[in-house]
Amino acid sequence: MKIKSDGNELVTRLWDNWHAHFRQGPLLEFLVEIFIQSGWRRRIVAEPNTQPPKLTGQEAIDYCLGIKDRAAKILHGQEFMPIPVLQITEKTTSEMVLRAYELGVRVFKVYPFFVTTNSENGVVDYTKIYPALGALEGKKDVVVQFHAETPRSEVEGRFKEEAFLGWELSEIVKLFPGLRLTVEHISSAFGISWMKSKRTEGRPIAASVTIQHLTNTVDDVLGYSKRSGGLVRVHEGFKPHAKDLKDRDAIRAVVLAGDEGFFCGNDDAWHLKKNKECAGVSCGAANSIAAPSLIIQFFEENNALHRLEPFVSEFGAEFYGYLLNTETIRFVRKPWQVPTELVVSGANDTVVPWRAGEELQWQIAD
Ligand code: DOR
Ligand code: ZN
Repeated sequence: MKIKSDGNELVTRLWDNWHAHFRQGPLLEFLVEIFIQSGWRRRIVAEPNTQPPKLTGQEAIDYCLGIKDRAAKILHGQEFMPIPVLQITEKTTSEMVLRAYELGVRVFKVYPFFVTTNSENGVVDYTKIYPALGALEGKKDVVVQFHAETPRSEVEGRFKEEAFLGWELSEIVKLFPGLRLTVEHISSAFGISWMKSKRTEGRPIAASVTIQHLTNTVDDVLGYSKRSGGLVRVHEGFKPHAKDLKDRDAIRAVVLAGDEGFFCGNDDAWHLKKNKECAGVSCGAANSIAAPSLIIQFFEENNALHRLEPFVSEFGAEFYGYLLNTETIRFVRKPWQVPTELVVSGANDTVVPWRAGEELQWQIAD
């Protein structure tokens, strides 16, 4: 990474995003452009919780081919790499994951039942996915991503991550020591110390981190933080929900320390306005536009700009087994405002970006 001597310009390798949602239909067409314009121009892991979800390798691959086609119309030659993901459910057999592997799928995702968007086919009984996990164990180029919240209804929301790691995932790590896996969008101090202890034991596991979990606490959605102005904020509602200061600070500390087991997977989760500003609100932060500037600001404010490039362009690629990007992207310090609302053509609706209307400091130069 290069920083200009006046501190107003920086150049890094292209950024990767190890967790994002492209959706489908008009929203997908819209989002591919948003990702590229906002600076997400290389690898983006294309989460499979569409309707219907991607349950076979071929479906996951075709989905990414469609995304690539759309990107090719915008990027003219530069390589854009959506990464296909197969969702593992209780019905997924070992043959299905091996077939997907043969087709080239390397990333698999496990959602818990009824915890987040389109999770009605999520897992209740984790022993039912053991055959699929067993088939993937030992494959050095495979990563199984876990939405790490327990589906057990007796566990309250704020403790769902802790309970999942302490029980379901501990069992999986014990039974499948050679399975490469990630804890997605880590959200708790408990999660950070659990990860550290498993990594110290040499387990092949890592965690993705979102900008919203680095900046928010639960008070931002409930309307107690200064930024919320006392209002309940539906656009700050995502899963797993941001927790307390001690949790946010534990995530910050591990990222600022440059721990290679924690990298950027932003969980870009856009929803149409009608599904965000209504009685039953879809969860997800529409963060792709604001995220690059906020990520740079986060590292800069903590005097840790030297940790930026590993977090966004290196640790993830190393864990997932890709070569580091060699092309670069340039950012300049130039205040700008996050748009308040954008029309999604063909959807007869708009979207409201996360941090709408806020002034941010950094933008892409090219
Ligand atoms: O907030 C979230 N939104 N968390 C998830 O796990 C899924 C995502 C979505 O697809 O909307
Ligand atoms: Zn997600």
